[in-house]
Amino acid sequence: MIPDVSNAQPIPNQLTEQPDFSIPTELEAEFDELISHYPVKRSAALMLLHGVQERYRFVSRQAVEWIAAKLELAPISVYELVTFYPMFTRTAAGRFHLRVCRTLSCALAGAHELHEFLCQTLGLDPHAHGPQTTPDGKFTVEFVECLAGCDTAPTMMCNKTFHERVDREKAKKILGECK
Ligand code: FES
Repeated sequence: MIPDVSNAQPIPNQLTEQPDFSIPTELEAEFDELISHYPVKRSAALMLLHGVQERYRFVSRQAVEWIAAKLELAPISVYELVTFYPMFTRTAAGRFHLRVCRTLSCALAGAHELHEFLCQTLGLDPHAHGPQTTPDGKFTVEFVECLAGCDTAPTMMCNKTFHERVDREKAKKILGECK
């Protein structure tokens, strides 16, 4: 889903600043190649966001503005994608980003207990709001909304890997594999 781009509202002040943001020539060439496969430039927005996040582990204000300029969109249209889709991160995440679904099926199946277990195991506050990162920068834990695996709740992601029916034993194993 790509939002309407006909407005020019400013971006809300909810993105991390990244004054040294830049896209290397080779990566920009990859983006250009990718854009050329779409009938309209704006359709490449999600792919560019993924590319930027892969490089920097988060999407900053400068990244949103860069992508918007590249695709000839209003920055607010790119910002809306970043805030709509849970896979985009607005602050630098740890090397292993643990996203725990807290929507209804997962909540009923133990998502809060799973989140609490992960936080306690990693020395984080299970009651804090928003993403939390361990001091060594290795793990980030956060709640997200539905990960589209409601029939195998509770679900979570560790970076790009999707995990289903995550009980404590499985969670311990997932953490143990994060090397
Ligand atoms: S409710 Fe958790 S995956 Fe849908």
